[in-house]
Amino acid sequence: MNDLAQRIDDNIARVADFPQPGIQYKDITSLFQQPELCNEMVEAFAEFSRGKIDAVCGIESRGFLFGLLIAQKLNLPFVLVRKQGKLPPPTVAESYELEYGNATIEVQPQYIQNGQRFLVHDDVLATGGTAEATAKLIEKCGGKVVQFSFIAELEFLHGREKLNPFTTDIQSLVRY
Ligand code: PRP
Ligand code: MG
Repeated sequence: MNDLAQRIDDNIARVADFPQPGIQYKDITSLFQQPELCNEMVEAFAEFSRGKIDAVCGIESRGFLFGLLIAQKLNLPFVLVRKQGKLPPPTVAESYELEYGNATIEVQPQYIQNGQRFLVHDDVLATGGTAEATAKLIEKCGGKVVQFSFIAELEFLHGREKLNPFTTDIQSLVRY
């Protein structure tokens, strides 16, 4: 781990037995108690994407937190991908499989231009299903997904493999 990754890891709270017994939950909300560290994180994200993208897409809900900060830092538009039924029409939807059942996400297509280069941002890359569905949704609306970024990547779940068909330009600040 580099120095920034180490400090992020040190400041992610661990919660035992959440959301299920036996699971140790990593709570990224503790990072927001450290505003200087958050500034450094935004700068690291911005440095990765500067000059390579035209817009940022953040995934509900924890992808909104740094997603908008990255977009503002780079002076670029920000687009929200939300769970079904939250955004007003017109919307375009994409469904994907979860471990149990499935989920549907939506975007407002009027905020995606043909050929516009997108960064997809979220807090955690786990199985990759959410980020993959988001990339499909953006491309269905005419955008091009050229980068992904995450605070944390759970490498043992191999989510990156689902994203590589879109782009291999993937940043994660800390890996587990
Ligand atoms: C979590 C996390 C990512 C997603 C990663 O979100 O914030 O968005 O799961 O999982 P995946 O790579 O296996 O798809 P969650 O659905 O818990 O919602 P939240 O962000 O609104 O808390
Ligand atoms: Mg999420």
